[in-house]
Amino acid sequence: MKKIAVLGSTGSIGRNALQVLSCFPERFSVFGLSTNTNIKLLEEQIRQFKPKVVAIADEESFQKFPRSHDAEVLLGMDGLKRLCSDPQVDLVINALVGSVGLIPSLEALGAGKNLALANKESLVMAGELLIQTAKDKDVEILPIDSEHSAIKQCLLSGKKGEVKRIILTASGGPFLTKSKKDLKKITAKEALSHPTWEMGKKITIDSATLMNKGLEVIEAHWLFGIPSERIKVLIHPQSIVHSMVEFVDGSVIAQMSLPDMKLPIQYALFFPQRILSNNASLDLTKIGQLTFLEPNHKQFPCLHLAYQALELGGTAPTVLNAADEVAVEEFLANRIEFPDIQRIVEGTLREHQAKPAACLDDILNADKWAKRKAKELCAERKIKG
Ligand SMILES: NC(=O)c1ccc[n+]([C@@H]2O[C@H](COP(=O)([O-])OP(=O)(O)OC[C@H]3O[C@@H](n4cnc5c(N)ncnc54)[C@H](OP(=O)(O)O)[C@@H]3O)[C@@H](O)[C@H]2O)c1
Repeated sequence: MKKIAVLGSTGSIGRNALQVLSCFPERFSVFGLSTNTNIKLLEEQIRQFKPKVVAIADEESFQKFPRSHDAEVLLGMDGLKRLCSDPQVDLVINALVGSVGLIPSLEALGAGKNLALANKESLVMAGELLIQTAKDKDVEILPIDSEHSAIKQCLLSGKKGEVKRIILTASGGPFLTKSKKDLKKITAKEALSHPTWEMGKKITIDSATLMNKGLEVIEAHWLFGIPSERIKVLIHPQSIVHSMVEFVDGSVIAQMSLPDMKLPIQYALFFPQRILSNNASLDLTKIGQLTFLEPNHKQFPCLHLAYQALELGGTAPTVLNAADEVAVEEFLANRIEFPDIQRIVEGTLREHQAKPAACLDDILNADKWAKRKAKELCAERKIKG
């Protein structure tokens, strides 16, 4: 029986992960859960999964949380660190959103835990450090992103030296056919309605700007050791082909399924095994057609900014990630316009002198600097009235 810690259990991935775990009670037990502020749902999850430990990031929510159960309740980042490094934990699922996920990812790997990673921001900020820590501790980082799970599956068809390129697919988000002029008027509500996936707010906005795909290019680079010029992005609005790998002989292997995050979560939990499940079967006759097109970089410049940051290297991807996090938050609060997200990220990157990201302090300093700079730039663009 594997003991699992689910960080961010009240979010979209966290809830899906618990659903998957609940289908295999003979294989997994839930050791720990965590939330930021959603203590109502955390209470329900405690009743259902009976964890030994829970962590609450937000101090006010921690104070309010009723102690009418047996779980030990931990507070803040120290609580998350303790939860994911507990000697009893076998595997950590990191389903936190944003840069807050980095330290728990490092802590889990450093404590010798296998890490099922949805929190792509960790890898964007500190790819080299995480991959090195996993190597040093002889543990695995198992991607919980449908694209990276797809690539991991496709790569089993050949040797690493036989890979020509990786082709990441992107739904294109809700504004695929909008003009630049139309994008200016987009509201947060419109940007939050994704055509094919139901996800948390930040990743939904990142999908609408294509920054999500940019973050995934960086994630793929670190997970699979492939340089950026051999990672291509294709828009695929049906979200059925989750990604592809082209091999040197011209064969392209694709992984397909209906869009449902439970499949990549289950794949990560059981890797390298495949387990019978009641996930819905893909009926291609019902889908009808699968289409692919080039991303429009002029319309959605965030993707290109992510490639640039990866090429610059060092602290540049950390800065890209931090500026995007701030800009998305400001957009969701109706303080800047949709196209400002890209402007803030570009402006912050322009003012940054990339340095080597040799240790955690370098990365945290760059993250702090970029968040401050991005906030200044947001204040300059603030919507009046
Ligand atoms: N959703 C998807 O389908 C999907 C697919 C692929 C990859 N991912 C990646 O998975 C990660 C999670 O995405 P999501 O869509 O599940 O996000 P989400 O629905 O917003 O959930 C995020 C989780 O993190 C917690 N959290 C937020 N801020 C926190 C903080 N400051 N400290 C501690 N905990 C905090 C939230 O607690 P509260 O509930 O209290 O807010 C929640 O449990 C992201 O990195 C995303 O890119 C998501």
